[in-house]
Amino acid sequence: MFEPAFPAQNHEVFRSFFVERVARENVSPRKHGVPLWLKLSVLNAQTMSQSLTRRFHLALTRDFFHPDGSSRYPDLGLSVLDGARHMEVQHLAEHRNVLGPDQTGGANGIIVLTPRVTGESLQRSDDLLALGRFGVGYDTVDVAACTDADVVLYITPGAVNRPIVEATVCWMLALTHHVRAKDNLVRTGRWDGRNQYLGCELRDRTLGIVGFGRIGQALVELLRGFGMRPPIAYDPYAKADMAGALGVRLVSLDELLTQADFVSVHCLLNDETRNLIGVRELGLMKKNAYLINTARGGIVDEDALYDALKRRRIAGAAVDCFVGEPITSPHRLGELDNVLLAPHSICWTEELFRDIGRMACQGMLDLSLGRKPIGVVNSEVFDKPSFQQKWQRLTKAFRH
Ligand SMILES: NC(=O)c1ccc[n+]([C@@H]2O[C@H](COP(=O)([O-])OP(=O)(O)OC[C@H]3O[C@@H](n4cnc5c(N)ncnc54)[C@H](O)[C@@H]3O)[C@@H](O)[C@H]2O)c1
Repeated sequence: MFEPAFPAQNHEVFRSFFVERVARENVSPRKHGVPLWLKLSVLNAQTMSQSLTRRFHLALTRDFFHPDGSSRYPDLGLSVLDGARHMEVQHLAEHRNVLGPDQTGGANGIIVLTPRVTGESLQRSDDLLALGRFGVGYDTVDVAACTDADVVLYITPGAVNRPIVEATVCWMLALTHHVRAKDNLVRTGRWDGRNQYLGCELRDRTLGIVGFGRIGQALVELLRGFGMRPPIAYDPYAKADMAGALGVRLVSLDELLTQADFVSVHCLLNDETRNLIGVRELGLMKKNAYLINTARGGIVDEDALYDALKRRRIAGAAVDCFVGEPITSPHRLGELDNVLLAPHSICWTEELFRDIGRMACQGMLDLSLGRKPIGVVNSEVFDKPSFQQKWQRLTKAFRH
């Protein structure tokens, strides 16, 4: 079910994996190209195998890795586990869109990139202590099912702020400066076409943020210096004094839509925000305004957006997240020339994977040592005696 993940920089984890595998499967260390120092360890295989039960088995989902098992990303933050000899890092043997109960069954903690987690996924989770969602969105995870199964769900708040707001600013500039169209003019030898494409600056424009949480606030900070008007935000749960301290005025959604030159969506997807921006809302936007959705597919009604863009009811849009991901055939929005698209990866940077990975690994390490991690979504699970017993059972050997 699991295969080893070999962080090049994580010697201890690498070493301990092989020692255990040699002990468990009685394989020849030479067959796996194991270095000399490990062959010495094999002599002590009996002792090593006894320590098997006293390890914390951390698995990463298969989508972090190439088919040959090497990491798709240069740094997944696994160095946080350097020296934590009780942590055994592996990856799931196969990728599935929904985690199977057979996949969650053997791990104490799983760091999850894209697979969905349902109640069924957790049916064999007696030894599963935690799921670390690699990012901040958790609409792909059944939170109540995690709590029922005594499984902590945590996310990595803050680790995505910089890459997502940098990507949002990148899109604001690319849209207003017609980057895509001008690039195409040169590629197709239509130099004179440039007269059709006067851009506009961010200066004196108004940013409207839908969902004024960590990312929305970070966006305001990054845009200081562009000379924009004071931003406005719609968020029924945000505090006016917090917003005021950042120079942001909280307004109704309708007021935001009618005043903003950029509507940037940064709320979570739930039943309250699904189709929050539809035909009526797009109809309220200025004709020269842009819409950017880097939050989740389904918050903006895709059919309504298609019509608004096609009829030039708004100036343009940029979309990173879609209903029904992954999108494996050409998307309808791609027919239009006033939209920029990305496959839910506009914020993917080396730093993003490193920083999220560090935080996700730190969360597992904390739990393994009896500490509550940052970013817990279902805090109520800590109040359950059954969870406390499980936590104690799985980690008592490592707690100081
Ligand atoms: N495209 C990507 O790769 C990517 C990367 C990171 C985050 N995201 C998305 O961005 C979202 C925000 O991340 P964050 O770290 O800022 O989360 P956050 O929890 O700090 O902020 C979300 C905000 O949405 C607000 N909100 C809740 N209900 C609302 C409603 N009905 N209308 C308007 N606002 C509402 C909340 O009050 C909160 O302030 C995540 O949920 C995730 O879906 C996407």
